[in-house]
This record gives sequence, C-alpha cells and structure tokens, in this order.
Amino acid sequence: MKHKALIIFSFLLFLWPIETTPSHTFNSIFSFGDSYTDTGNLNVLAKKLAFPVYTDKLPYGETFFHHPSNRCSDGRLIVDFLAEEFGLPLLRPYLAQNGTFRQGANFAVAGATTLEPVFFKQHNITTIAIPLNTSLNFQFQWFEKLKPSLCRTTKECRDYFGKSLFVVGEIGGNDYINMYVNRLSMTQVRSFASTIVQTIASTIKKLLDQGARTVVVPGNIPMGCMPMLLITFKSHKHISSYDHKTGCIKRFNILSRYHNSLLFEEIKEFRVKYPHATIIYADYYKPVLNFVRYPERYGFTKPLVACCGKGGEYNYNSTELCGMPQVSACRNPSTHVNWDGVHLTEAAYRYVSTGWLKGPYADPPILGAQTK
Ligand SMILES: *[C@@H]1O[C@H](CO)[C@@H](O)[C@H](O)[C@H]1NC(C)=O
Ligand SMILES: *[C@@H]1O[C@H](CO)[C@@H](O)[C@H](O)[C@H]1NC(C)=O
Ligand SMILES: *[C@@H]1O[C@H](CO)[C@@H](O)[C@H](O)[C@H]1NC(C)=O
Ligand SMILES: *[C@@H]1O[C@H](CO)[C@@H](O)[C@H](O)[C@H]1NC(C)=O
Repeated sequence: MKHKALIIFSFLLFLWPIETTPSHTFNSIFSFGDSYTDTGNLNVLAKKLAFPVYTDKLPYGETFFHHPSNRCSDGRLIVDFLAEEFGLPLLRPYLAQNGTFRQGANFAVAGATTLEPVFFKQHNITTIAIPLNTSLNFQFQWFEKLKPSLCRTTKECRDYFGKSLFVVGEIGGNDYINMYVNRLSMTQVRSFASTIVQTIASTIKKLLDQGARTVVVPGNIPMGCMPMLLITFKSHKHISSYDHKTGCIKRFNILSRYHNSLLFEEIKEFRVKYPHATIIYADYYKPVLNFVRYPERYGFTKPLVACCGKGGEYNYNSTELCGMPQVSACRNPSTHVNWDGVHLTEAAYRYVSTGWLKGPYADPPILGAQTK
C-alpha cells in the first residue's frame, strides 16, 4: 500500500513540471524605464557625480533585502518578480558595469523621462530630477553599446533576443510630472502625449526590428492618486477636481488614461506589422485604481497615504522625504499601496506583477503568451 502510494506520488512528481512549465522560458530580461523599474542605475550616477539620493538608505529595501537595495521601494519591484518567475537573477543595473549581462540588464533610471532633456529646456520646463542623460533614447543607446558582448551576427542576435523578455516602461510618468509641476495647462500636456507615446513606440520598433519576440509595454498609473501630486495640487475650493469614489485628482487620471489609450493603439499596429512577436500591454492603471477603490480586498488601508513620510494628510512632504534622518516608515508596509509618496510598496508591485503574469491586468498575460 505504502509502496503504491510512493509510485503514484513519484509519477505525479514526474508529470507536474511538464504540465506547468510555461510555454515561454526566457534566457534574459532587458528593461527600460524610470524609478518604477530602476534597480540601481541612478545610484551609480549619484556616486559618480556626487549628488545625494535617499534610496540608498533605510527604510528603502527593508522588506525583502533588509538593506537599501537602490530601488525606490521597501522591497522588490515588478521586474524583480518577473525575473523570479522565470528563474533568472534579479536584474543588474547596466551602469554598474558589474559582471555579465547575458541573463539581462536593466537600463531604467529613476527620474528618467521619455523625452530628451533638450525638449524640457526648449519648453522652459524645469525638471524635478537633476537633468541627466537618462531619457529613453539614451537608455536605448546603452542597449546598443552592450549588444556586441551578447551576440555578434544579425542572425545570432535575432536568435538571442527572440528568447529574451523585453520590458519597455513604465516610462512617461516623469514627463507628465515635470509638466504638471511647471503648471502647464492640461491642454498643453495633452498635446505632448502623442510625442511621448511616439517615442516609446519607436523604441519598441527598434527592438522588434532586432528580433525581439516578447515585449511587455506597461502603461501609466492613475497619477491623480499619487500622494506627491495630491499634496502639490491640493484644492479646498475645487471639490469637483476630485473623483468622489477615490479621492484622486480627476484631471491627472484622465490624462493617464489618454496616454494609455494612445499607447494601446500603437501596440495594436505593431501586432499587425509584427505577427510573429507578442506585444503585451501591461495595465498599470486598473490594478492601482482597484487598490484605491477596494483597498480591503488587498489588505491595504488608507490607499492615498504613503507608508514612509513625516506626516500630513497624505504623509508626504517634499522637504522631509523618506530616507532622510527622522523620517520613518509605517510599521507594516504591506498594508500600504504607496511607499514614499511617489512609488509603490513591494506588496502593491507583487499584486500588479501577478496580474501581468497570469491576468487579468495584461493583454495577453505574460505566462499565457504563446511562442509563435
Ligand atoms: C557587483 O556584484 C556583486 C555580486 O553580485 C555585488 O556583491 C556587488 O555589490 C556589486 N557591486 C556594485 C558596485 O554594484
Ligand atoms: C522660454 O522662456 C524664454 C525666456 O523667458 C522665452 O523667450 C521663450 O519664448 C520661452 N519658450 C517657450 C516655449 O515658452
Ligand atoms: C548629455 O549629452 C549631450 C550630448 O548628447 C552632452 O552635450 C551633455 O554634456 C551631456 N550631459 C551630461 C550631464 O552628461
Ligand atoms: C513640511 O515640512 C515643513 C518642515 O517641517 C513644514 O514647515 C511644512 O508645514 C510641512 N508641509 C506640509 C504640507 O505638511
């Protein structure tokens, strides 16, 4: 009897991996973006150019790494969860030039914009982050520079990148923040959205042309729910500025949705032009809005209040930021959506990444994407 059970058990054990192995296993992950994706690039620049950052200090990193991990969160980011899912090492920041990048590289930099620094200069828009050459086109140039160490011939590169997972975004959030903080009119901001989306699309095209077959394209979050913007644009007089169901600022969420709809149109065109590739629209908007509308479903409380901060209605104050001395984090970050007023907690990133891998927040889900 015991013997029989053992046979059945080992039979199941044998079958199990075959049945659950995802149709995709990737040899590497390459990602582009901003602080929602950066795993240390900004901190490399900060050391080199001697400007201060706060993400290299606790409580940043306290949840998973138990030390500052140069990520803008208490723990892992979405790219970290993707790497774990596919059995790949957590992505190294490209600028650290530390070790091999054969299993992937992260080009994302906190503060990075989609548009070039010169665009902001020409439009008299002062950027909240110090202007560095980290915009999407620079990140793509770094990818080009890295390429010869990964593959040599065009064919070899196509084969290699065909087995890579590319993540292009989230990017664009900082372009909009810079415009909002400089008090551009919503009409003006809206007029720049297509330029921002075109720039993202041209990066996706260059990757597809080099043989990328799986590209994840995250949209924008509902920016009107971000504590930093909620406090900066706080309005006692204009109650109608707020969505009464969420307490978020309506006009910023409308613009996020507009950006996302333009991005989705680009993706639909790529699907026609590159039928052998899988281009995944990763929805950032819906999951974050769900956290805000139905926090109890996810174990969250006060979804518009940051975990790490020095008080105030949204626990965000630009003069006393998370990572500065005397600024502390809430006791349990997993009960918060927002970490430091701008970025999400590991708990929130985990929910989003699961929704991208298995659905319902990705079209198609990353795990369901069939190798074509
Ligand atoms: C380089 O990589 C090693 C091993 O992953 C790590 O211990 C070290 O901190 C890294 N150094 C830098 C400068 O990132
Ligand atoms: C930017 O500011 C300069 C100097 O104040 C002005 O001449 C120029 O017209 C402005 N440009 C835009 C696009 O507003
Ligand atoms: C950024 O790049 C431009 C050329 O593209 C260069 O002139 C400028 O010095 C660079 N700035 C920094 C801060 O590296
Ligand atoms: C932010 O902190 C400063 C310094 O502690 C304080 O003077 C200011 O009132 C705070 N602002 C808000 C909106 O709480």
